[in-house]
Amino acid sequence: MRHLLSAADLSLDEAVLILDTAEAMAATQGRAIKKLPTLRGQTVVNLFFEDSTRTRISFEAAAKRLSADVINFSAKGSSVSKGESLKDTALTLQAMGIDGVVIRHHDSGAPHRLAHAGWIDVPVLNAGDGTHQHPTQALLDAFTMRRHLTTGQDAPAPDGSSLGGASVVIVGDVLHSRVARSNVQLLHTLGATVTIVAPPTLLPVGMESWPCRVSYDLDAALAEARPDAVMMLRVQRERMSSAGGGFFPSPQEYHRRYGLDGARLRRLPAHAIVMHPGPMNRGLEISADAADSPRSTIVQQVANGVSVRMAVLYLLLAGGEKTTGGIS
Ligand code: NCD
Repeated sequence: MRHLLSAADLSLDEAVLILDTAEAMAATQGRAIKKLPTLRGQTVVNLFFEDSTRTRISFEAAAKRLSADVINFSAKGSSVSKGESLKDTALTLQAMGIDGVVIRHHDSGAPHRLAHAGWIDVPVLNAGDGTHQHPTQALLDAFTMRRHLTTGQDAPAPDGSSLGGASVVIVGDVLHSRVARSNVQLLHTLGATVTIVAPPTLLPVGMESWPCRVSYDLDAALAEARPDAVMMLRVQRERMSSAGGGFFPSPQEYHRRYGLDGARLRRLPAHAIVMHPGPMNRGLEISADAADSPRSTIVQQVANGVSVRMAVLYLLLAGGEKTTGGIS
């Protein structure tokens, strides 16, 4: 594996290797000194053409904890706002001698182009492209699920475990969600059964080819799937033409039919966890009591994201070899 562009590119063995490596990384993060010397002397560029809070900070923390130098580039305030192309930006970075690129871009396929156009010659990590893919989000979600499913809490999962037999329900704005796409593919690879729930207007065309079940009825789907994990998706209003864009009648109606509220929370199996990639619209796709309940893993997902991104950076930039002073 040279790049991480899509969750669909990962085999079962590769996915489990990343999750196991992330556990090894997590084990080092409780120490007083969290920094490992693994990527000392390497430079990672965070190339963010689209807004981000947690993903950018998480990649930055991950690279720094591996002792890489990090350059943060955001399109705002750069020559991109003067019309500079992705190609010229890439050639500039290559000329500066970088060792890896983390890219978030509003266009689906931009990371793939960066990896394969021949402009740069370093690993490319997709941190979210348009409505297409967000593989590290799917990996951190799988990491969080694997921990809870194998230990009943956010504690280290045994090496080699998959998500075989797990039932996961993903709810909401699937149409605009790279998180849903990436999760469906990775969860399928890891052996989980996935049910997607959304209003018909928020489902993409061509869903028949996705390896999951589809339902328009949240209560029926929760009763039938008996989920181990329920993942709520953000209603992505910035990708809709106007406030609701005609995708649903009103926020109240959306919440009533597709929101996770206290009543639905109480009907879930006792061990089921509640997930959300953030940022949340509280009161729309998830109520405050669901978001803040003891079953919510939303904050754990953020913490686990750093370990997962450390693992991916390590495997791609250090070649997976245990360099001197690497993870041990
Ligand atoms: C997601 C994203 O940007 O795709 N957020 C994230 O990375 N934490 C999901 C979202 O924006 O709704």
